[in-house]
Amino acid sequence: MADSLYSRLGGYDGIAMFATSLVGQAGKDEVLSRFWTDRSEDSISRERQLLINYLVKETGGQMYYTGRDMALSQVRIPSIVSY
Ligand code: HEM
Repeated sequence: MADSLYSRLGGYDGIAMFATSLVGQAGKDEVLSRFWTDRSEDSISRERQLLINYLVKETGGQMYYTGRDMALSQVRIPSIVSY
């Protein structure tokens, strides 16, 4: 049987590295950085950990995602960011 996507991404450590890098880059992006400005370190750490948990769960790893669903947590994003 083929490895799960979770395994192919490097398991928990690979996904944690990816999520940390992604949030770091988004925080420096000209358009997106506003979402990470004037927020506490604790709030940003919580969000990063929720992103890791979400990605682990969705790719086949053994974590339980306790955050809000995507439609709710990203509700402001589509109207502000033009893709
Ligand atoms: C342009 C792209 C994105 C922007 C600007 C963005 C922005 C944000 C912001 C500002 C929050 C914090 C909301 C709050 O504390 O009220 C958040 C939460 C979150 N985002 Fe995103 N996001 C983006 C894309 C994504 C994607 C693609 C995923 C998943 C693959 C994701 C997963 C999450 C998760 C799991 C949370 C935590 C939910 C919770 O607080 O319960 N985000 N995002």
